[in-house]
Amino acid sequence: MQVGLKIWRYDSTTGERALREYELDAPEEATLLDCLDIVKDRQDGTLAYRKSCRMMICGSCGMRMDGAAVLACKTRMYDIANAGRVPVISAMGNLPIVRDLVVDMDPFWAKMKAMKPWLQPGYDQPDENEEHVISQERMNVIHKESLCINCGCCVSECNSMESDPEFLGPQALAKGMRFVGDPRDAAKVERLDAYSSEHGIWDCTRCYFCNERCPKGVDPRDAIAKLGAEAMKEGIDEDMGAKHANWFVTSAKTTGWLRETELVPKTQGVVSSIKQMKFAMGLAVKGKVPPPFPPHVAEGVKESRALFDLVKEQNRQGAMGIVQGERALSRLEHETGIEGGHGSRDQADVTPGEEPTRKRGGE
Ligand code: SF4
Ligand code: SF4
Ligand code: FES
Repeated sequence: MQVGLKIWRYDSTTGERALREYELDAPEEATLLDCLDIVKDRQDGTLAYRKSCRMMICGSCGMRMDGAAVLACKTRMYDIANAGRVPVISAMGNLPIVRDLVVDMDPFWAKMKAMKPWLQPGYDQPDENEEHVISQERMNVIHKESLCINCGCCVSECNSMESDPEFLGPQALAKGMRFVGDPRDAAKVERLDAYSSEHGIWDCTRCYFCNERCPKGVDPRDAIAKLGAEAMKEGIDEDMGAKHANWFVTSAKTTGWLRETELVPKTQGVVSSIKQMKFAMGLAVKGKVPPPFPPHVAEGVKESRALFDLVKEQNRQGAMGIVQGERALSRLEHETGIEGGHGSRDQADVTPGEEPTRKRGGE
């Protein structure tokens, strides 16, 4: 098949930047990475890009196609070429470009390192011939986060990071959740405390571009939601973002509406509210602020309260209450290898927080 590519070339030493067009003949099964290889081998040996595994495992080949991050080795060119499209290929966003399609990953690794991405186990050693068993239900909470290959596609598209380069970002936070949710880790509260500080969990704007672009289904935004829920479960709710979320719940439970006039004092405090009084009065004059008293109670408020009670009853606090991940997980089959079949022992007999031991070899 005939493939056309436009590639942004860049040399950080000279600052030279140019959009070059290439045409090539490629096999029908070719991926974007295969096409770049053909360009490099047959047309222009100076083209720079990263690759290693060619099978969506190493995370090296992240780049942008028509402005959206992709893994080059996962992107088939057949439909694109057949449609006569000539996609524009460029380096990932939010990371400094070194040359052509190669970005400097140092800031990425620094943020990942800041998450302390290793287990800090706090359990006692089991008796000889016994081993710890972690329930499948508890591992499901971090199943998706464990799939991350550190490609940077999510970081490339993160809106928050674009406005605040110090924001920890979707990949680092997803990595953080991978350890916060691991029942073997003993540093959960310290982690949540650190991740909840400035440039952390609550600075995400919930644009969901990271979920959309992640090539491995990690859904980093869901991981951030889990971190927020876990932090609040542990009483770490001093950040304005956490207070904001808390007020949403109280407001919906009591009136069935969002009580916006009380949102600022409840989130930012009284002093900040007084400072914003002039702005609020301006809104009131234009009829944009509903009177706070008496509170406007929705007709169907009982439904809202019933929903709140149901969630309480099910005890779905923290990460266990983030539903979207569960839907994805329901499509996955797990073989536990434990007698009794698929998750039977795990889900029925294990109390969250208690990790059972069993004899080695599944005795
Ligand atoms: S949802 Fe949050 S972390 Fe994900 S891309 Fe948007 S701002 Fe970044
Ligand atoms: S979360 Fe997804 S997009 Fe982000 S680094 Fe990991 S695999 Fe890549
Ligand atoms: S080359 Fe390894 S993920 Fe693409």
